[in-house]
This record gives sequence, C-alpha cells and structure tokens, in this order.
Amino acid sequence: MSRLYLSPPHVFGQEEQLVADAFSSNWIAPLGPHVDAFEEEMAAAAGVAHAVALSSGTAALHLAMIGLGVGAGDEVICSSLTFSASANPIVYAQGAPVFVDSDDTWTIDPNLLEDALREADRRGRRPKAVVTVDLYGQCADYDVIRPLCDRYGVPLIVDAAEALGSTYRGRPSGGFGKMGVFSFNGNKIITTSGGGMLVSDDEAVIRHARFLATQARETAPHYQHSVIGYNYRLSNVLAAIGRGQLRTLPARVAARRRIFERYQTALGSLPGLRFMPEASYGTGNRWLTCLTIDPGAFGATREDVRVALEAENIESRPVWKPMHLQPVFASARNYGGAVSEALFADGLCLPSGSNMIDADQDRVIAVVQMVAQTLKR
Ligand SMILES: Cc1ncc(COP(=O)(O)O)c(C=O)c1O
Repeated sequence: MSRLYLSPPHVFGQEEQLVADAFSSNWIAPLGPHVDAFEEEMAAAAGVAHAVALSSGTAALHLAMIGLGVGAGDEVICSSLTFSASANPIVYAQGAPVFVDSDDTWTIDPNLLEDALREADRRGRRPKAVVTVDLYGQCADYDVIRPLCDRYGVPLIVDAAEALGSTYRGRPSGGFGKMGVFSFNGNKIITTSGGGMLVSDDEAVIRHARFLATQARETAPHYQHSVIGYNYRLSNVLAAIGRGQLRTLPARVAARRRIFERYQTALGSLPGLRFMPEASYGTGNRWLTCLTIDPGAFGATREDVRVALEAENIESRPVWKPMHLQPVFASARNYGGAVSEALFADGLCLPSGSNMIDADQDRVIAVVQMVAQTLKR
C-alpha cells in the first residue's frame, strides 16, 4: 500500500506555467514581478493593505518580533498549543515567552490571556506582544482578544500559518492584528515548497520588514548597513508557485472541509471519539482533521490508533505538544495548561491533504473502525 501522508503538496493549477514565466523572464532572484504580485494577492487574500514575501513563516514571525522591538528579557505572550515556530522567534529576539492555555475552541483562552495581561500590568512589565495562533485553521476569538490587547496597549501578532482561507465573522484570517503571518511550507494549504508572508495594514511596518529581510541594505551605491539584516526574501520562482496555488485556494478549502465531513460522517458515532469543534464565530479551512479519543469510552488510546495507522503505512500525528511541556521552554511562565495537556494526550491529526481521494480516506476510516472494534481493552 502506498504511503498516505498527513498533508502533502497539491499542485493542479497554473503553477508550472507561472514558473516557466519566471524562467523565461530570467527573474531567478529573491525579487521580481511574481514576488511583487504574490505580495499584492496575499494582502488582498488577508484583507490587509500590505505584505512582504519571505523565506518562511518562521522568518515572518522573527521579523515581527524585531519590528516590535522585542529585546533582551522582554516578555511576549504566546499560545501554548502550537508548533514551536510560533514561540522560537521570541527567543531569537532574546525575549521571554509566556504561555497561555487554550479554551474549548483549542485556540488561546481569552480569560487566561486577560489574567496574563492584568498580572503583567500589575508588575509594571508590559509584554511586548501577544502571539495568537489560528490553530489547525481555526481562528482565535478576535472580537474579544483585540480589545483586550488594546486595553493593555500590547500589539497583537496573528500566527495564521495554518489558517489561510479561514474566516472569522466573515473576514479572512491573518488581518486581525498589528501583523499577521502565513506559512507556505510543503504541508500547508498552499505551498511554495517553503516560504512565508508577513502582512499588515501599516505600510511602514512592512517596508521595515522588507528592508531587514534584504540584509538591511541602505540606499547607497556601495553596501551600507547601520543595523543587522537578514536574508529572508522569497525567490521569484517560488512566488510564481505560490501565485498558482493561491488561485485555487477556495477549491483547496472546500476539499479539506469535505474530507473533514467524510471523516465525521464515518467515525462521528464511535464512542469516545470527538472531532475538533468549529467555533460559532468562524469557518475554518480544516487544514488538518483533528479529533480526540477518550480511551475509557473508545476502548483504545489515540496512540493505539496512530500505531495501527502506521502499520498500514498511513501517517497521523498527535496534536501539537504544548509549549509549556517542551523541555526547551521549561523555565517559561504559563497560565493554565490542563486543556492543551488533555488535547495533546488524546488528540490525533488524520491525513487531510486536498488531493486525498475517497478510496485513500476510506483506508484511514477502516483502520480507525477496526481499532474501535478489535482493540477494546
Ligand atoms: C502555527 C505555525 N506557526 C509557524 C509555522 C512556521 O512556518 P514555516 O514552516 O513556514 O517557517 C508553522 C508551520 O510550519 C505553524 O504551523
């Protein structure tokens, strides 16, 4: 049986044609017409005015931290339930992450966020930023979070790496903070093989990020630098791939949502198995179909299911291990933790690529059903 991956790349549109154009025009460089056009198209997709194309989502988060002036010892509040790339850039900038647990949407808990902001205020140490994560394509609750950040004067960075194509109260993900971040890694809903985007309504913020991403080269005939720069720009060839992918975003979201619904129809009635809920305020892209398995009711653990899937050459993954449990962040402060710990203990992500055919999805479904029937303890 061929291997089924969690979220493989899916190329089916005008990508090759656009890449051929990059070659024929000789713009094989970290700048060029496809970069400019991709930036404009992504700004439009996120509902913001400006965007800068970068080599990764991680680079975008790093430049966001630098842009906000995060420096030695500065605290930055970050959602705990996420991939490490949400938090690592805080440390690149020598800041100190403070982690906040999730609520039943799996995204950051606004009540705990308020506790963290209030306490920081009381101690006279205003955090330099709040990083929310639109987890597995589900937006955090921005109508609550944004006023909270405004009240405490803390800028909001939205890590929408997994949420391109999702909406919050009808508006696209990524545009709800001072800056937003997208990833075009190979496993994302659109990919450039690797890449990212920093978006903002603030032109100066994006101009500064673009300057830093281009080795902080100042305007001069020679090479002139007054600050440390980075080589973080996206290639024109890769931007061409991204443009082709972006044109088919609605079909990609529809395919992933359909995959989620097929899983839910087939498996939703199994005892102890619960799918990641969709918050009433938004429509997620269902980047990955995630569920939790209560071993008591289901009769087997999520690890039993993962191992059984692996035995059939099917990749699945536990839900993100929360950052406050990661050895590398052992000394970081955190608020709450029980929700994300339970999601990590029982949560599993199933293959969800937009190019997965029904017969392949049926393979996954059959294994989960088999475990439910035969592995009961
Ligand atoms: C939530 C989250 N943030 C940040 C990133 C980092 O993006 P990249 O891999 O493009 O650096 C990813 C994915 O890789 C992610 O899932």
